[in-house]
Amino acid sequence: MKILISGAAGQVGSALVKHGSKRGFEVFGMSSSELDITNLRNVDAVFAQVKPDLVINASAYTAVDKAESDSELAYSVNELGPKLLALTCRKRDIPLLHISTDYVFDGTSNIAYTENALTNPQSVYGKSKLAGELSVKENLEQNIVLRTAWVFSEIGSNFVKTMLRLGAEREKLSIVADQFGGPTSADSIANALLTIAARVGEKRDIKWGTYHFTGLPYCSWYEFAKEIFQQAESMRLISKAPELASIFSSEYPTPAPRPLNSKLDCSKIYKEFGIEPDDWKQSLRDVLRQLQ
Ligand SMILES: NC(=O)c1ccc[n+]([C@@H]2O[C@H](COP(=O)([O-])OP(=O)(O)OC[C@H]3O[C@@H](n4cnc5c(N)ncnc54)[C@H](OP(=O)(O)O)[C@@H]3O)[C@@H](O)[C@H]2O)c1
Repeated sequence: MKILISGAAGQVGSALVKHGSKRGFEVFGMSSSELDITNLRNVDAVFAQVKPDLVINASAYTAVDKAESDSELAYSVNELGPKLLALTCRKRDIPLLHISTDYVFDGTSNIAYTENALTNPQSVYGKSKLAGELSVKENLEQNIVLRTAWVFSEIGSNFVKTMLRLGAEREKLSIVADQFGGPTSADSIANALLTIAARVGEKRDIKWGTYHFTGLPYCSWYEFAKEIFQQAESMRLISKAPELASIFSSEYPTPAPRPLNSKLDCSKIYKEFGIEPDDWKQSLRDVLRQLQ
């Protein structure tokens, strides 16, 4: 089965390329310079050349704060790009697996968000990602939209790498303790998507639509940071963990507001595909080992 992956140099994209080949797929990973999803001629040419059986869109504009003042580019990559991919997939009658985010919610719920929960994005990034979800759904029946959150890996920029960098520079760090979510390794997202791709390849009945997938257990950024430094110290990746102070979101203002509750209910993907949430503490160990 030939899988075309856009955004292949990103966190999830490179994990898809790595695990896709290991799992026996014929993988065509394209970086943004090889496949610009906002350019229809480029999209058409790559599809014609690769002739994929399935496409996974791992590309996105992910600079959440920058998006507030760069909304044109954010919408171009996060809405127009997925639309062009969906239209091209429709023309060729192939499925598209697309990735979205917890930022489509406002974070005010008291419980974990199910796929049917009301969306209400509060940032340009969240709005552009929701627009992308809709443009995929409107233009292609065979679509999966996988919403995830708090992604980390050994490459790119993410919370784990930021903590290790700041921890090496400072003796004390203040970390937000009133935002909750499920840290999710890029490897586990890749494997979830590849499991769905395998199901498509087996021509089994697929329930197209939106699914949630994150790591568990849910925690706050403060708890996530504590675990990062504990593991890094015990693996001797760092010599001494910095002192951590817990703060409220209001004490750490950012251009784009963050949802306080980013917990995604992952029971639907388990029921439909048998995909279990990832144990993020174990995945964190794997990522730290690679950074060692
Ligand atoms: N990171 C998170 O915490 C998080 C949380 C929830 C959901 N998500 C979603 O998960 C997915 C993967 O995120 P990630 O963390 O792997 O992101 P990432 O590391 O920032 O990778 C995104 C990739 O998209 C590429 N890209 C940008 N514009 C493009 C274009 N016009 N055409 C083709 N590719 C383009 C980027 O290439 P360049 O670097 O060359 O621009 C980059 O390699 C995204 O849909 C994101 O919204 C991420």
